[in-house]
Parts: sequence; C-alpha cells; structure tokens
Amino acid sequence: MKSKGRLVGQRWRSIGGLPSIFLLCLFLFFAGLFGSTLVSHQDVQLLTVRPRSRVLKSVEEFDVLPNGDTGEHSLTSIPFQVLSWFPRALYFPNFATTEQCQGIIKMAKAELKPSSLALRKGETAENTKGVRTSSGMFISASEDKTGILDLIEEKIAKATMIPRTHGEAFNVLRYEIGQSYYSHYDAFDPSQYGPQKSQRVASFLLYLSDVEEGGETMFPFENAQNMDVNYDFRKCIGLKVKPRRGDGLLFYSLFPNGTIDPTSLHGSCAVIRGEKWVATKWIRDQEMDE
Ligand SMILES: *[C@@H]1O[C@H](CO)[C@@H](O)[C@H](O)[C@H]1NC(C)=O
Repeated sequence: MKSKGRLVGQRWRSIGGLPSIFLLCLFLFFAGLFGSTLVSHQDVQLLTVRPRSRVLKSVEEFDVLPNGDTGEHSLTSIPFQVLSWFPRALYFPNFATTEQCQGIIKMAKAELKPSSLALRKGETAENTKGVRTSSGMFISASEDKTGILDLIEEKIAKATMIPRTHGEAFNVLRYEIGQSYYSHYDAFDPSQYGPQKSQRVASFLLYLSDVEEGGETMFPFENAQNMDVNYDFRKCIGLKVKPRRGDGLLFYSLFPNGTIDPTSLHGSCAVIRGEKWVATKWIRDQEMDE
C-alpha cells in the first residue's frame, strides 16, 4: 500500500507549451528593462539593506517507502538550522509547545535544589562556588505522569537518531537574575576526571522560557576563536544562542571518532532580566543502566 507524504520544500511547476515560454521571455525582458531604470533612480541605501531571512514554505507530495519493523509509515518533519560545524550545533525552532514547556516547569518547580558540579581532581564544592549558580532537579520520562517528557524524549531520539536508552534523566534548570554557568565541557576528559564507564556524546537543551535579556547559551571556542591560554571561563563570548520558549539546541561534545571536540566548550551567560528555564538531556555513548 502506498501513502502520500508531505514535506516542506521548494518546487517549480512546469508552465508548459512553447507560446507561454515565449511570453515569459518577453515579460522578463521588459521587467528587466523597467526594473533597471527604476533601480537606478532609487536611493542606493535601500539596496544595501539586508533582507531578513525567511523560511519559504511550500508543500510537496511524494510517496513514502515501506518501513521496517521498527520504523514508521509516515514522514516526520523536524526543521533545524545548522548553527555551527565547530562544534556541531543544531537549532530546532518550536521543538516543543508552550503547554509542554509550562507543564515541565510546573513539575520541576517544587523539587528545585541548588545545581551541583562533577568535580575534577583538587576541586571541592567550596573552591568551585560560583561556577554554577542555577537550581535544578532530575526527572525521567517514566516518572512524569503527564506524558510530556515521554513525547519530548521520543522526539529528541528521532532528531539525533540515538536511542532513548542512551539518555540520562532530564535535568530541569532555573537561572534567576545574575545566575550563570561558566564555560565547561559536558564530556568528561579521563585525564581530569579519571576513567569513565561511558561518555556524553551530545547534549539537547530545550528552552522552557523566553529570557528578556541575557541567559544565552554560549560557545566561546566556536570555529576555534578565543582558544588561547588567557581565556577567562566566566566571559560570555563567542557564538550565543538566545533562549526562546519551545526551541531546542543540540550539540555534540565528541567527534565521530569518539575524542572530545574542544570547541564544544559552552556555558550559560548570566540572566540580566527575566528568568531562564531549560530542560537538558545528556546523551551517552552507552545505554544507561536501568
Ligand atoms: C579525531 O577526530 C578529530 C576531528 O576530525 C581529529 O582532529 C583528531 O585528530 C582525531 N583523533 C584521533 C585520535 O583519531
């Protein structure tokens, strides 16, 4: 059985017939002629204004393929934008609905505790004070009776094509005014943290709120910028991603060969106005123990 799939894309329709092609050529000729005289009279400033980038939408129909046992018989459309290749970072606009975001905040709010850090050799809770000032809580999809996290987790698995069994529980975080997270890696370098049973491959951040000002996720080493010894880990520089409710951000901490990508260093800029809520899912190279 064949079914029709629909996907957002661009499509040229044939106009058909020689006479119409001739008319089209004629039209383009005159359009060019008039256009060029018009333009030459315009203020040049007008032409240098960069158009706002828009996403063109049109609908294309085609046949989907027969699916395997574990596959699906319809198409999924999860739009994304490549933000960077160094690190590999993708932005997913409108990944979750407003209701889903509000539901997650509601379930997390009562359980918040000051966030903690994985400590390196020589580090203590005392001497790392200020590095991470948010509050947070952990919740797995199975603990969430509303079913929201189940849907989100499934969508993340599709977007990454890494099975759900590789994900840690969601870490829901709140940053209030002045709170931040200095630049750090999500992966654990064995030379600093000791031998690791499994490694974090990628991180998916779902922004649960808008932030009026500040609170960006930043990648200070994006495209190998600022990678000098004098870099101040508290600084909010490099590629910055502004939190918007419902949007997702995915980045990979490891190269395809399994070594840590140095440009995956990232942090959370201090919130200046408003409040930042985010749900983080860390994805590992091994399945999580149940
Ligand atoms: C792993 O991949 C990265 C990026 O392609 C490369 O720079 C690095 O040399 C590789 N490391 C090893 C040990 O293969």
